[in-house]
Amino acid sequence: MISKGLKNVVAAETAISLVDGEKGRLIYRGYNAKELALQYSFEEIAYLIWYGFLPNDHEKQMISESLKNNRELPSYVYQLIQTLPCDMEIMSQIRTVVSALGTKEFGWKPTVEQAIRLTAVIPVITAAIYRKVNGEKIILPNRELGHVENYLYMLTGKRHSFALIRALEGYMILTMEHGMNASTFTSRVVSSTESDMVSAVTGAIGAMKGPLHGGAPTGVIDMLNEISNKEDAEIWIRQKLERKENLMGFGHRVYRTRDPRAEALSEITKQIGADDEWLELAYYVEKLAVQLLEEYKPGRRINTNVEFYAAAVMKAIDMSPSLFTPTFTVSRMVGWTAHVIEQSLDNTIFRPEAKYIGKQTVELQSLV
Ligand SMILES: CC(C)(COP(=O)(O)OP(=O)(O)OC[C@H]1O[C@@H](n2cnc3c(N)ncnc32)[C@H](O)[C@@H]1OP(=O)(O)O)[C@@H](O)C(=O)NCCC(=O)NCCS
Repeated sequence: MISKGLKNVVAAETAISLVDGEKGRLIYRGYNAKELALQYSFEEIAYLIWYGFLPNDHEKQMISESLKNNRELPSYVYQLIQTLPCDMEIMSQIRTVVSALGTKEFGWKPTVEQAIRLTAVIPVITAAIYRKVNGEKIILPNRELGHVENYLYMLTGKRHSFALIRALEGYMILTMEHGMNASTFTSRVVSSTESDMVSAVTGAIGAMKGPLHGGAPTGVIDMLNEISNKEDAEIWIRQKLERKENLMGFGHRVYRTRDPRAEALSEITKQIGADDEWLELAYYVEKLAVQLLEEYKPGRRINTNVEFYAAAVMKAIDMSPSLFTPTFTVSRMVGWTAHVIEQSLDNTIFRPEAKYIGKQTVELQSLV
C-alpha cells in the first residue's frame, strides 16, 4: 500500500511535542503549550524544548545569556547578505545565508550548543536581510534586550511596548514546535544521513518556504479588510462558501477543535487591544464563520486555526506581510534543532521505498 505524503505513517518516536487533533491539545514536553505561551518567555520554552524540563532561575539566566552571547555574525556573513540581490525572496536569502554558517563548529554530532547558536543568529540574519531589502541600514543586536524584543528592535530600530512584545513572544512560543510537520521531517531526514545541523535546518527552511507549509496569515488580513464591517460579514462569508471557496484562518489537517494555538493567541490579543476596531471585527467574524461553516459543511468540525489570530498579532505589531513566514522560521528554529538532536540519539537513515511504475526492461536497439 502506498501512503502518498506519508499520511498516517508513523516514521519516528518523539518526546518533544504532541499534536492531539481530537482533543485540541498541543503539548510541549508534557506541558500545555497554551499555558506556556501565556506565562513564560521564549528563552524558557526554548530551554524546555531542548533539555526536556523547565529551567530554574540559574538555568534561565544561563540560557538567556547564551542566546545573547551567540548573536554575533562573522563579517563574511554580513558581506554575503549585502551581496545577495534585493529582489531575491527573503526566505531564499535566509536559506542561503544560514547555509553559509556551516563551518567546522557544526560537525556531526548535533549538540544543544549548536542549537543555541542557530537560534541566536536566525533573528539577526532575518532582520539584516529585511532591512537591506528595504534599503535601510542594518541594526546590530542590542545586548540589553531579550530574544524577541531584540528581534523587533533589529527589524524596526524602535523599542516596543511590553504588551506588544509579549504578543509576539506568545506567537513565537506557539509556533516553535509542532510535531512531524514537513520542515521538521526534512530536518530529521537530512540529519539521519549524519550530515551537520546547518545542512538540516537549511533543508528545513527550504521546506518552510513553500506556500503549503509556511503559509502566512496574509489571507486572513485580506479577508477582514474586504469584509471591513460587521454588517457585511454574513453576506460576504455566505457568498464565499456558496462559491465553494475556503475561508482563510479556518480548518486544519489535524485539529478537529479550535486550534489550541488560536485559543492562546485570542487571549493574548485581548490583552493587547480589546478595544481595537479591527480586533472587534475579527472576534465577530470568527464566531459567525464557525457557525456558517457548520451550516455549510455539517459534521466536518471546521474551526479557527492558528493563522486567524496570528493575523491579529501581526497586525497589532504592524509586522510587514513579507516577514510573516520569516518570523515563523525564526521561532521554528528551536523545534528543528531539537528534532535534529533527538534524531541523532537513536538514528536510522530515512530510506523509504517507491513503487516503480515506469516501463519494464526495454531492449536496446543495436547501433550497428
Ligand atoms: C487547512 C486545510 C488545507 C485543511 O484542509 P482539509 O484537510 O481538506 O480539511 P478537511 O478534510 O477537514 O475538510 C473537510 C471539508 O471542509 C471543507 N473545508 C475545510 N476547510 C475549509 C475552510 N477553511 N473553508 C471552507 N471549507 C473548508 C473542505 O473543503 C472539505 O469539504 P468537503 O468535505 O465538502 O469536500 C483547509 O482547512 C484550508 O484550506 N483552510 C484555509 C487555509 C488556512 O487557513 N490555512 C492555514 C492552516 S494552519
